[in-house]
Amino acid sequence: MTTLRLGDTAPDFIQESSTGLIHFHKWLGDSWGVLFSHPADYTPVCTTELGATAKLADEFKKRNVKVIALSIDPVASHLGWIKDINETQSTEVNFPILADADKKVSTLYDLIHPNASTTATVRSVFVIDPAKKIRLTFTYPASTGRNFNEILRAIDSLQLTEYYSVATPADWKDGDDVVIVPSIVDPEVLKSKFPKGFNAIKPYLRITPQPNK
Ligand code: BEZ
Repeated sequence: MTTLRLGDTAPDFIQESSTGLIHFHKWLGDSWGVLFSHPADYTPVCTTELGATAKLADEFKKRNVKVIALSIDPVASHLGWIKDINETQSTEVNFPILADADKKVSTLYDLIHPNASTTATVRSVFVIDPAKKIRLTFTYPASTGRNFNEILRAIDSLQLTEYYSVATPADWKDGDDVVIVPSIVDPEVLKSKFPKGFNAIKPYLRITPQPNK
């Protein structure tokens, strides 16, 4: 196991899931991906997290993102738990949950942090781009559920900054003003890339309307 860093290729794997065998890179195809892990099946926070993710299915689809969860329980356990999630969260889980009973994927993605728990996986998130590169990752402890709207917000930023010479400031959300990357200084380039103009509060702090709106 090596530490996975931003820009690294997301490790490929073949593993069982609630929807059948997953060959990860093939399953991702040309989509973006979100791989997120859970401590265990039939636990309260995880139940709400998977429900929240299922309810955001249209939002992930709009952004061309495939979502896949992981916990180290077997398929039969996942299938029973999915029924509970659907019932208690008033939704339908519409994405695979990896059944990582042999911890193959957990080892590849370093999801067991022994000083937190020697047996349960942490709540990690990996956002993976269509070239299979890891573009964002974060890790929460078992006791803290994640904010899935924040994952969507971060994906909006990744997808915008991929194509335009901008970065997104604190608390930015889709449609808000953005900042021009410091490397662009040529006045002609600035004019052609930012026809709506910009406000240079400092030479390094230049605010411009979101270019694709
Ligand atoms: C939960 O998902 O609710 C949970 C799992 C492990 C420890 C604490 C909470």
